[in-house]
Amino acid sequence: MKDLNELVNTEDQDFFHTYKRLKVVIERGDGCYLFTDKGEKILDMFGGLAVNVLGYNHPKINAAIEDQVKRYVHISNLFYQEKQIALADKILQLTGFSKVFFSNSGTESVEAAIKLIRKYFLGTNKKTLISFTGSFHGRTIGALSLTARRKYRDQFEPLMPGVKHLEFNSLSDLEDNINDDTAGVFVECIQGEGGVNMATDAFITKINELKEKYGFIVVADEIQSGVGRTGKMHGFEHFGLDADIVTLAKGIGGGLPLGAILGNERVKNVFSVGEHGSTFGGNPVAAACGLVIFTELENGLMDKVNRLSEYLFAKLNIMKSKFPEKIKDIRGKGLMIGIELNSPGQPVVEKMMQKEVLVNCTNENVIRLLPPYIIAENDIDLFIDRFSDSV
Ligand SMILES: Cc1ncc(COP(=O)(O)O)c(C=O)c1O
Repeated sequence: MKDLNELVNTEDQDFFHTYKRLKVVIERGDGCYLFTDKGEKILDMFGGLAVNVLGYNHPKINAAIEDQVKRYVHISNLFYQEKQIALADKILQLTGFSKVFFSNSGTESVEAAIKLIRKYFLGTNKKTLISFTGSFHGRTIGALSLTARRKYRDQFEPLMPGVKHLEFNSLSDLEDNINDDTAGVFVECIQGEGGVNMATDAFITKINELKEKYGFIVVADEIQSGVGRTGKMHGFEHFGLDADIVTLAKGIGGGLPLGAILGNERVKNVFSVGEHGSTFGGNPVAAACGLVIFTELENGLMDKVNRLSEYLFAKLNIMKSKFPEKIKDIRGKGLMIGIELNSPGQPVVEKMMQKEVLVNCTNENVIRLLPPYIIAENDIDLFIDRFSDSV
């Protein structure tokens, strides 16, 4: 394997500079740990950005990949595909939604939802799409138009017209801006990139009331908070959002690129043949892994998420009471947790990395935890120990 300096220099020359990399070379992963070429063992509290819900080198994921690779890796959406169909069936059975469309990523799931809404309201005056301050819905032009955080969008205007960003958790903003023209409302009930910000119950109730009055479509963006991450199948279930469409990605493919939208009875007949599609969408190897994930969720994995979440929150709350001047807030659900500091978070991330624990900072001062669901109590103890030192 090439050493770090060689990799850095070659990437610097070859790549568009879109990523800021950590200065380590990962050789392999196992469970909740990453192993570097220097022999370090890093506890991963970020799970590949909410993707690796079963951690690394999971025997069931590995077996599903091996089995499918031996049969075929890709045959195109010209064919009925056993693994896709089995996964769709399992998801619909576990969620109560009526239809599924498979994509490859979160942003593509959001695009599919936008297109579905456009088609549903074709020929009507319902054209406006609503999203909220602090939101992140992806980086392709449609999804980016919904993404409200300026740092992601400022340099790429003009974006898609007809999108309004309202203040997250403002009831008056909803009342003042939602009307007969509103076609769709996109909500992250727990905003991930925005800093693990939680919707208030009153805010979600108001969205539901306005939906009843004006008939727009509600999209729950569950790309980060879905697939059991919050201790329920979808994060919006904690809030009672009346969602017509759910967008999924990240954890759904067990580490392979996969996304999906789920639709309820209301929207189930919107798309016809050829109106939407994707060459790779629902790739059979990714779908085989997705089937492992949803089978584990069906068999009690979310109980584990809830148990570990309780354990982690209890430890974090003790820390907060010990260091009230350092820790401002602890929030989130399940294993999607934000620790808001009273100071910038990046130095803490760097100190943690020196102590061989990977965490992430979002929105300047929020340490974000998105660990694999297979994390154990003693891993959490290790995290708390090193986090206390670093804070
Ligand atoms: C809530 C939410 N929506 C959409 C996206 C975009 O997903 P992707 O990066 O797979 O396109 C993300 C990614 O972080 C997300 O957190």
